[in-house]
Amino acid sequence: MSPEIRSQFPILEQTINGKPLVYFDNAATAQKPLAVLDASRAYYTELNSNVHRGVHYLSRKATDAHEHAREVVAAHFNAPHTHELIFTSGTTDGINLAADTLALSGRIKPGDRVLISGLEHHSNIVPWQMLCQQTGAELDVIPVTDSGEWDLSNIDSLITEKTKIIALNHVSNALGTINPVETVIPKAKAAGALVLLDGAQSAPHMKVDVQALGCDFYVFSGHKTYAPTGIGALWGKEEILNSLPPWRGGGEMIKEVTFEKTTYNDLPFKYEAGTPNIEGAISLAAALQWMQQVGLDTIANHEHELLVQATAAIQEIEGVKIYGTSEHKAGVLSFGIEGIHHYDLGTLIDNMGIAVRTGHHCCQPLMARFGITGTTRASFAIYNTAEEVDTFITALKKAAMMLR
Ligand code: ALA
Repeated sequence: MSPEIRSQFPILEQTINGKPLVYFDNAATAQKPLAVLDASRAYYTELNSNVHRGVHYLSRKATDAHEHAREVVAAHFNAPHTHELIFTSGTTDGINLAADTLALSGRIKPGDRVLISGLEHHSNIVPWQMLCQQTGAELDVIPVTDSGEWDLSNIDSLITEKTKIIALNHVSNALGTINPVETVIPKAKAAGALVLLDGAQSAPHMKVDVQALGCDFYVFSGHKTYAPTGIGALWGKEEILNSLPPWRGGGEMIKEVTFEKTTYNDLPFKYEAGTPNIEGAISLAAALQWMQQVGLDTIANHEHELLVQATAAIQEIEGVKIYGTSEHKAGVLSFGIEGIHHYDLGTLIDNMGIAVRTGHHCCQPLMARFGITGTTRASFAIYNTAEEVDTFITALKKAAMMLR
């Protein structure tokens, strides 16, 4: 990684507790480069105005910038049509949009099945449980192996003609496993099931092509792809989105309103009630363009090198157990140290300037699968360095000695 990349992240220049900040909590949220901060500031200093409803100059300019952002985001994921890209507040919002509209659509009947996996984040579990409660459908779960991968040995009995929706994470936030969605999606299609991919952890780390994947919905969050919080997107196939009912009611999503009857707007506006997060959408496009400029393969390769380095070095620490040992992993290292609580470890290394996440990572069923309450998780981004990995390992050794 070139120093020029790191220098584009002003937040990384600070010290924490007198120590240079080592930010290894990227799976929770990534830091923002100047290109994104500049896009956000330029919006508020030059364009701020409401979109799609003003005749005046600023409103037209803001509308153009917002709709151009949609084109950039849709193209980044190789969506066939720009109007299939719905701006959301993030991954959770996108999954809820899909689950709620599917529940409302009447196409899920009592006795139908919904399939998720044991690796899911709560946001890809709870909305489907709610759909099941509303429709009488039942939830099935792909089990997880000791290495933190999907156990697909019984997949053919888990996907049947009763299976209507399969909702899976592309990359596990808690363990980093890159899941073999390319094995499951064709089986889902053969059974006539819809597939939603939770891309919260794949969008920041790899090139994603929704057409090549063959999924029906792909959702992700901007704040993990170097963009601000409060913006994300759902991509969905046009014919499916057109067949689903509207979701939130309000301005923008209507064609005509009378007290007797309302008719709804076309895609994407049908699913964008209210004033959108205009600055967020513009900054998201700037973030994805910045990632393209750096190179998605460069990002993936750099994070992989840090993962390999950290995985080898951490094993020198007595009592370390890594959770998630698949060969196919994004830059996430989740672990425990025997006899030491993850919270104590995280707190102690925070005193040394190192930011990691500890706890269940919004994956309580996965933690239960491993018989633990949580892990310590280091997660890497393009601006992290090999020296920071060394600092982290030294800090862990010191903290382990102090806590034993
Ligand atoms: N889902 C985010 C994480 O894994 C917040 O940390």
